[in-house]
Amino acid sequence: MNMHSVNILVLHGVNLNMFGKRDPAHYGTVSLAEIDAALTALGAELGLAVTSYQTNHEGSMVERIHQALDEDFHAIVINAGAWTHYSHAIADALDILPVPKVEVHMSHVHARQAFRRESVLARVCAGSIEGFGLESYLLGLRAAAALVRRDREKTWV
Ligand code: DQA
Repeated sequence: MNMHSVNILVLHGVNLNMFGKRDPAHYGTVSLAEIDAALTALGAELGLAVTSYQTNHEGSMVERIHQALDEDFHAIVINAGAWTHYSHAIADALDILPVPKVEVHMSHVHARQAFRRESVLARVCAGSIEGFGLESYLLGLRAAAALVRRDREKTWV
């Protein structure tokens, strides 16, 4: 994190540490470390400082979000994995943070099983990007940066 840049917190939820070893038809072969490296590289290009966090424990994710309240993040990008579909606890935690949140998914969740079509996080997120693999994260980072810029400049581009 950097005092002068735009600071973005990227949150990865349950099972996402298994990217690269998990269901390649939906998630490809890219690992979480490669996703984080690509986000950091794009962030450097765009003047964003990217901090990533992954956990398989819902309470740890809630506490990481609480901790962010005392840190200087300007936006959140979150792929909550299966928590997306049922964790009102994570949605409520995100709602506490007064910064824009962008939901992302590697797979095209609306083209899969019915239970994946609902996002309980949608009510606290500005929007969602899904189905583009690694590119979903990169687009999500760009969207988060655009939202921060919009709030700063009070314009929408
Ligand atoms: C996912 C989609 C979720 O439905 C699933 O439970 C995941 C990954 C995605 O990135 O496509 O774990 O969030």
